[in-house]
Amino acid sequence: MGTLLRLFKEPVLVKEVSSTQDLIKSADFPPFTPLIAESQTKGRGRKGSWFSPPGAGLYFSVKIPKEFFTLAERELSPLSLVCGCAVSQTVDSYIFSQIKWPNDVYIKGKKVAGILIEADKKNFYIGIGVNLNTKSFPKELQSFATSIYLETQREVDFYEFATLLVDNLTWDLLRFREEGFKPFVEPINRKLLWKGKRVLIDNRECGRLLGINERGRAVVKTCFGKIKELSYGDISLRKPF
Ligand code: BTN
Repeated sequence: MGTLLRLFKEPVLVKEVSSTQDLIKSADFPPFTPLIAESQTKGRGRKGSWFSPPGAGLYFSVKIPKEFFTLAERELSPLSLVCGCAVSQTVDSYIFSQIKWPNDVYIKGKKVAGILIEADKKNFYIGIGVNLNTKSFPKELQSFATSIYLETQREVDFYEFATLLVDNLTWDLLRFREEGFKPFVEPINRKLLWKGKRVLIDNRECGRLLGINERGRAVVKTCFGKIKELSYGDISLRKPF
């Protein structure tokens, strides 16, 4: 696996692991070395498990020391959007995708990839799960989840996708380190899911999503005309029914 610009070491490719995210957290797992699995027995999502059967998806984790970023800690909060941008660009090589603030990638209104960023004092742990060739999902996921295969009727080559993803992440992480979040605002706004549409904030407050700003926050005009900046974690955007 090669890229012109080098940020990552040679990826470790494995058939099956418990969770790539848990494995890279061990102190002796080297930084900048992507761990890429073909299946996980205990894949983790932000809100529960991550469906990770063999022959279906790509499960990627990498440890990045915090000191790699020259930015102040508070400027690093859009990191998940930067990764989302790289994942979405990669999916775009197969079919157009959108970014759902703050962590997901969607095709035609359904989730195709999720990003989980964890951190401790020293490191960020970037976890990315992409549904490549999933043919069917468990019942409870069917109306929300999709795969590139289901949307294109074409099998995705696991290694080709992994190579493209590593390249796009390299570009975007280096750019984020050098220039901060500013250069990402416009490209993300162009592919932001539900931009300009009515959304529900935390399942209760209605508003219109205006876009993301230079701090990676979602800017919403509430139904009462107030402009709100939503930060990470405490807020989710949902399409009203
Ligand atoms: C989400 O909930 O949307 C985030 C999903 C993140 C899943 C990935 S798959 C690779 C890495 N290992 C895990 O156990 N989880 C992340």
